[in-house]
Formats: sequence, structure tokens, C-alpha cells
Amino acid sequence: MTEFPATIDLLVSGGDSRITPNPQTGLNKYGCSTMPDNEIVALGSSTASIISLRGMNAAQVLRERCAQRARRHTLQDVYDQQMQALRSELLSLCGLSEEDKVDALFAASGTDIHLLIAQWLQPDLTVMIDPAETGSGLAAALQGKHFSSDSTCAGGAPESTSVSDWQGELQTLVAREKNGKPRDIASVDAELLDIVEQAIKANKRLLLILTDVCKTGLIFPGIASIKKLQQRWPEKIQVVVDACQFRLSKQSLRAYLAHDFCIALTGSKFLGGPTFSGALLIPHSVANARQDQVLHEGARAYSHAADWPRGYKASLNLHPGTNFGLLLRWEAAIAELREFAQLNEQQIRPFLQAFHKAVSDRIQQDPHFEAVSNPMLDRSEIGSVGNWDEEQSIFPFIIYRVTSSGERQPLSRSESAKVYQELQRPADVQQHRRFQLGQPVLCGERIGVPVSALRLCVSAPMLVSAQEKTTADNMIAEAVLALDRIIEIIDTL
Ligand SMILES: Cc1ncc(COP(=O)(O)O)c(C=O)c1O
Repeated sequence: MTEFPATIDLLVSGGDSRITPNPQTGLNKYGCSTMPDNEIVALGSSTASIISLRGMNAAQVLRERCAQRARRHTLQDVYDQQMQALRSELLSLCGLSEEDKVDALFAASGTDIHLLIAQWLQPDLTVMIDPAETGSGLAAALQGKHFSSDSTCAGGAPESTSVSDWQGELQTLVAREKNGKPRDIASVDAELLDIVEQAIKANKRLLLILTDVCKTGLIFPGIASIKKLQQRWPEKIQVVVDACQFRLSKQSLRAYLAHDFCIALTGSKFLGGPTFSGALLIPHSVANARQDQVLHEGARAYSHAADWPRGYKASLNLHPGTNFGLLLRWEAAIAELREFAQLNEQQIRPFLQAFHKAVSDRIQQDPHFEAVSNPMLDRSEIGSVGNWDEEQSIFPFIIYRVTSSGERQPLSRSESAKVYQELQRPADVQQHRRFQLGQPVLCGERIGVPVSALRLCVSAPMLVSAQEKTTADNMIAEAVLALDRIIEIIDTL
């Protein structure tokens, strides 16, 4: 038998080019290294995270186990067993047991999960949030197109060409006004209702994507209107919650599933696993309704049979195959989830509130910054109340240059991108600490200048570490230091 690949090689295999390290820097497109990097201040979990030591150890242990088993079994058998074990553990850490009748599908990223959902459900029309507020490949994936020129398993598919014989329409809803304020909920509801009514009249089947939460931390569109529409036309509408940020409590996951909504998750943002990994929680009610749907062979580029729950006809056309990179990336994320799942409300909320206060106070007091506002995260419509996920854990803000006369000039998008890069990879590494923030997100205009928001984010590993008071205080101080450093960088632009 050939040698089982090394953990670090596996971790960057079985995904699209977003996970490939640049040979010069050893970093991927998001500045994440393949090895743990304790020197960087990691505040960018809304985009991607760097593998932790805990995650690396877990991946290494699983790699050893797989290598040992591969001496007695086929690689296929080893992969199938381990994916099944991963599935059971993810569900159990989400607080779900067999009685809850929920399955899990795995894929190389949140974007791949959306691509597979669309291939499986084949809606005539999908409605989702403004593409700037979600993964950049989602719009293509949901319409049945390759979102990148090097798809997951097979590679070499031209971007924007069709994955299969199915293609769907897509409509997007703007989430924020030009000034960055969240759009009035009533106008969003009215626009959505109009789109849905017209589609139903034309006898179309719809996929509604409820994003909880988006890149800048909103739940969008309103849960109430999505729920109402789905209850009115249950045969025509399927809802998928895009919870790829995975900033959801077990209670909220359960509540969404109880409404027959599927939930898309990733292990590589809030959870702190390596870039990238995706999963879809599927209630049995949804699986039963789609039980005869077989995926087109075009989906082979994104999925292996063992990535699907056992017994799903959807996977009949897929090749057996293995993706040990995906398995190990998820294992590293699960190592973080094991720790996080042990924390209770009282251990989570106080740090989120303290972080929020420190960062908001600093942003509000300083003319170099403007907070991008977010309403309360209210999930009472699905019966999830009083849980830690009501607290913000993504803090977006716009940057300004302040002239000697006190005049504020917003940084352009390219300037904000430079700030983001310089924070992460300072020109003078000896001199400055490295800070990783969430990638800039387009956020309208200020004084006629198109702007982007940078994001400070709290992750699950931070919340685990915050149980130690001094560490908690240090992490908050570091977030404030990141803001100080931004001001220094503005002056060098
Ligand atoms: C809300 C949301 N959904 C989906 C995605 C796509 O997930 P991935 O980056 O794993 O492809 C992102 C990425 O930032 C996201 O923020």
C-alpha cells in the first residue's frame, strides 16, 4: 500500500484553490497558515480561521488512526467509517440524538454545501441576501454553476459553466441601505412577498435562504416573514438557514430544524477549524420529500457518496472516493466544538458582552471609526429565546482618515483592503504585531465614497480561552490594540 499522506498535506487537499497555500508565503488566500500560528491575534473568524494547536493535534491523531486502519482495510472503508463517526459526533455536539431525526451531509466548504443543496433540491427560483453579505461563490453555486475554476474533487471545470443539466434562477435582496443601516424590515418583507407570490403564480418551486448571520452579523430576511411564507406554501417552499458562520446556540439549531428548515454550517469560521469545511443538517421530513432525487453526475466534482448520510438516493450517481483532507479539517473543527459545547450560558455571555462594550466604546469615541449598526438578534419567532446567540459576535466598522482640521474622510475600498493586509502582514514584521480581522465587506457609501467594513470577531476558541480571567482581559485588550494599530496604518497610506 502507498504511504498515507502527512497531516499537513492532507489538510490543504480536497478543496478549491482558496485552501491552497501560496508556495512563497505558506499562507492561503485569507492569510491563514497550514500550521498553528500563536503569534497572530486571531480576530477574523467571520472569514476563516487558522488551525489551532488543539485542532492540529486532533487531526494528527485521526490521521494516525486512519493510516493504521488502512493496513487492514481499504481506504474506502476507512473513509466511510470515519465520515459516519464524524457525522454522529457533529450531531451529538449540536445536541441532537437519533430521536431528533436529523442527518448531516459534509462538503468542502459552506459554498460547496450550497452548491449541493441546489443540485439536490433543484428549485426553479432561489432567493437570498445581497451576495456581498455572504460567501462570494454562493450566487453561482445556487444557480447550478461552478463557482471556481478548480472545483473540489475533480478540478478543471470552467468557472460559471453548469455543474449539471439543471440550472435555477436567483433573486437577491439588498440587506443594508447605502449608508450601511439595516434596511427597514417591512420593505424587505414586502419585496420578498412580491417575489414569492409571482413565483407561486408561475407554479415555481422556491428555495429561500435565511441567513443567520450574514458577514456583518444580520439575520436576513426576517424570520417571521420566511416562516409565514413557508407555512402558507409548504409544498412549494423549502427554507435553508445559511448558518455558515455557525454563530448559533444548540437551542436555535433545534428550533430551526423543528420548523423543517435545513441548516448549512461550517467548521472554519466561528468554530475555529482550518479553512474550509461545510455541513448541512437535514431534517428527515425534508429528506423524505426528496427521497427519489438522484444527483446528476456533474455533482461528482463536489461530493463523494460517503459524504452523504447512509441510504440517501441522492448519492447513487456519485463515485465512492475519499476526501481525507475534508475529514481532517472537520476533525480539527470538532476538537474546538467539543470544548465549546461544554460551556454554559453564564460562561459564554459575559465575555461577548464585555468584548462588545470595549470595542463599541472605543469605536464610538474615536472619529477614525464608525460602527456598522446591527439590530438585536431576535429568534423568538422560532421559539429560541434567552440564548447566547442573541449577543453580537461580529463587529463591523468603517475607517476614516481625520485631517488636522478634524474633517473625516472615509477610506476607499482599496485603502481599507490595504489596512486589512498591513494588519495581517506588516511590512516591518519585527516592529509590529500581526492582527487578523475579517476580510473587508462592501458596505455602501459614505460622503459619496464607496466603502468596505472591516470586522472584529469573537470565535468559539476565544470563548473557551476566556474562561481564564486574565486571558479574557488580554483578548479584549488585543482587540482594542488592533484598532490603535489601524490608526497608525492610516497615516502610512
Ligand atoms: C454567511 C455566509 N455563508 C456562506 C459562506 C461561504 O462559506 P465558505 O467560506 O465556507 O465557502 C460565508 C463565507 O464567508 C458566509 O459568511
